[in-house]
Amino acid sequence: MEIVFSPKALKEFQHFEELYDTPKSKLIPTLYLAQREFGYLSQPVIEYVAELLKLSPAKVLEVASFYTMLHKKPVGKYEITICTNVSCALMKGRELLAHTLKKLNAKEKEITANGTFTIRREECLGACDKAPVLRINDRYYYKITPEKMDQILKELEE
Ligand code: FES
Repeated sequence: MEIVFSPKALKEFQHFEELYDTPKSKLIPTLYLAQREFGYLSQPVIEYVAELLKLSPAKVLEVASFYTMLHKKPVGKYEITICTNVSCALMKGRELLAHTLKKLNAKEKEITANGTFTIRREECLGACDKAPVLRINDRYYYKITPEKMDQILKELEE
């Protein structure tokens, strides 16, 4: 597969010219765009982004590797990120993670057999007062119980 942005993605990338001053300031939005376009940031995608921004592939990989929301490996259609840090742990975030893994017969960080889900824990999703918190792709969910989780999973599977 040739790694080239679609015309729509290319237009979005060109819009970054108006929004950001330097190649480095365009890097994270471009990586997000590339992830949306290609599914994850494989080495050829990293090299494509580097070429677009005239940065070294090592610099692009360095940034891509730092952020857990940027995927260096394929993930399921829905990536479920469950916070297990202090506030969420106190509100049973770890139990919620275990419940979700069991419910989907899944292993952490692996894609479920049907290709639908990847589940992983996160350190803090920045909404500690609404614990336990989880994120599914770009959407956040607050004060989640196992029962609410089951309902969310059911809706996603439908
Ligand atoms: S500890 Fe879970 S959102 Fe901060």
